[in-house]
Amino acid sequence: MRQLKPKVYMVGAIDWDRRLFDQLIPLPDGTSYNAYLIDGGEKTALLDTVDPTKTIVLMDNLIKLGIHRVDYIVSHHAEQDHSGAIPDMLMFYPDAKVVTNPKCKGMLIDLLHIEEDRFITIEDGQRLSLGSKTLQFVYIPWVHWPETMGTYLVEDKIFFPCDFFGSHLATSSLFVDDEAVVYEAAKRYYAEIMMPFRTNIVKNLEKINTLDIEMIAPSHGPVYDKPGFIIDAYKDWISDQPKNEVLLPYISMHHSVAKMVEHFVVALTERGIKVRQFDLAATDIGKLAMALVDAATIVIGSPTVLTGPHPNVAYACVLANALRPKAKFASIIGSYSWGGRMVEQIKELIPNLKVQLLEPVIAKGLPRDDDFAALDRLADEILAKHKELKIITPN
Ligand code: FEO
Repeated sequence: MRQLKPKVYMVGAIDWDRRLFDQLIPLPDGTSYNAYLIDGGEKTALLDTVDPTKTIVLMDNLIKLGIHRVDYIVSHHAEQDHSGAIPDMLMFYPDAKVVTNPKCKGMLIDLLHIEEDRFITIEDGQRLSLGSKTLQFVYIPWVHWPETMGTYLVEDKIFFPCDFFGSHLATSSLFVDDEAVVYEAAKRYYAEIMMPFRTNIVKNLEKINTLDIEMIAPSHGPVYDKPGFIIDAYKDWISDQPKNEVLLPYISMHHSVAKMVEHFVVALTERGIKVRQFDLAATDIGKLAMALVDAATIVIGSPTVLTGPHPNVAYACVLANALRPKAKFASIIGSYSWGGRMVEQIKELIPNLKVQLLEPVIAKGLPRDDDFAALDRLADEILAKHKELKIITPN
């Protein structure tokens, strides 16, 4: 059995083969549903459960540990990948109570039909003694649902933040053993799950900064026994200052947009601007989301299809709009044959992006010299804007 510290065990499940979350998010490296068992001598507490597809793994781990009694099932977050096995746990341990905040209680009743009398509700900062170990509950709302909370294990200085700081990464290592791999997975997770709530994360990070934390044990991915690594990464990702990068998602059907993209990428690169180009016909949306974390400018490339943007472009716009990245500038490049409202429709799809829109470059058919000159001017303007932000060194 995997032990974080004496009498603190990881009893969750690794899901090596899962490849999609919410029928939306790619999981190239699988994931895990981390549940933790804390034995305080007088009482035992199970922190979260697992996705219902893995209930048997959780039960098996508890049986192997010889846990005949669970007094408290702490539910940090009502989403079913952590709460889904609670009903079975309540049957397995008939005296157990679900410990959570009032908002999460209401959601668990709605989502899982747990009986009202099985709950104990707690408040922010409240402590619960297990004997030799003490749980302190910490509300961390909107990472990424409104009811989310964490638990600080006072004596062992372990913080259990549920999804916060997590990574979709199936690994047999209990602790982070390859920071580069975990950084990639955690950034992907932040981009897909946490980025829309960046301002709340800033507040929550300040709040947990008041705790003396030696270990962070999230609900997905490996445990951070050197928590400074992930806290520093989060500080970078949530900062207001973007990086000197242009994100360029595009679609080309008959090579007109492709020729514009090719020219534009060279123009930006020659000006010292980093470009991340994504062909939306074959893009992992997780990679696209990760690029949205840092980019100062987003330039969308699209042909005109039935008077509007290509549907893949529309999908990417809806996604970017939902993820609310910190980009400061945006523009559109593309082509048309006989007309349409492609530019207007793209603008209407991204109201959440607090960006200054730079003059689009739209070619009629195959781009001509005038169009390439306009792309050069757009690259000049982006360079000037990035210099204003002081994210590129002036020559
Ligand atoms: Fe891992 Fe929001 O559930």
